[in-house]
Amino acid sequence: MGLESYYKDHWVEIEEDRLDRYEQMFQWSPAFERLLAPADIKPSQIVGDLGCGPGFLSCELLRKVAPNGRVHSFDVNKDFIERTHAKAKAEGLGDRLELHHLTSETLPIADASLDRIIAKNVMVYVDDPAHTFKEFRRVLKPGGKAHAIDSDFAMVAIDPVPPSDWRALLDAAAHAFRTPNIGRKLYGLAKAAGFSSVDVQIMATPDTKGRLLNFAKNIAGYAREAGTLDEQSINSILDTAEAALEDGRYFAVNPQFVVTATV
Ligand SMILES: C[S@@+](CC[C@H](N)C(=O)[O-])C[C@H]1O[C@@H](n2cnc3c(N)ncnc32)[C@H](O)[C@@H]1O
Repeated sequence: MGLESYYKDHWVEIEEDRLDRYEQMFQWSPAFERLLAPADIKPSQIVGDLGCGPGFLSCELLRKVAPNGRVHSFDVNKDFIERTHAKAKAEGLGDRLELHHLTSETLPIADASLDRIIAKNVMVYVDDPAHTFKEFRRVLKPGGKAHAIDSDFAMVAIDPVPPSDWRALLDAAAHAFRTPNIGRKLYGLAKAAGFSSVDVQIMATPDTKGRLLNFAKNIAGYAREAGTLDEQSINSILDTAEAALEDGRYFAVNPQFVVTATV
């Protein structure tokens, strides 16, 4: 896999053990309710889920729009589409689900066909976020809402890791994301796409138990693949965070930019 299009390729092709890990990582949690609340999902709506992953969010959306609403799930990964289908079917929700395996950045649905479109931790990977927001505007009905939830990796803090060290790690891992600082850009992108109002909330949950250490380890893995930061520097960042976790000083936060744009 070349580094240039890695940010997309590593989602298009996913080996079995990584698929299984994502099945654990992307499970729906009641804690996500507040991230979704501004989207105002209601019964009977037709809702899109861009980058549906293994399907936990799509199933939650199917429950929220029941009994008559429908969900369109989109992903670049074929296995995720199949897993989303299997989950919805197993929960008796499959007849209100439409699946779309994406091979381009244009959504294969008609203009003005959705009430809502959700993209949770996906905009960071799309080829051209400005185009994707225009697509959201195209497929939404008048009064419809696009709702994007994303990190802004330069704003992640893992104390006591020095911010300059975190920055160096991120720079070394940059190939894994198309727009690593997407969080701060969502407002401007939505405005430029012509949405009439754009509401931004920033939601953050303090982590004192090491939850974000796994995320830091993933970033470290990407940095190792690129080979632009020496192994000692990478290990020192992880060791600093792990030592702080052991002696109770560890504190981390990954603010989520929650952006709701109304047509
Ligand atoms: C971090 S996961 C988030 C999954 C899910 N939205 C969630 O929050 O549990 C990112 C998802 O976006 C998908 N993805 C990556 N690039 C995409 C693109 N250009 N268009 C649509 N989906 C994409 C990946 O296959 C993956 O399912």
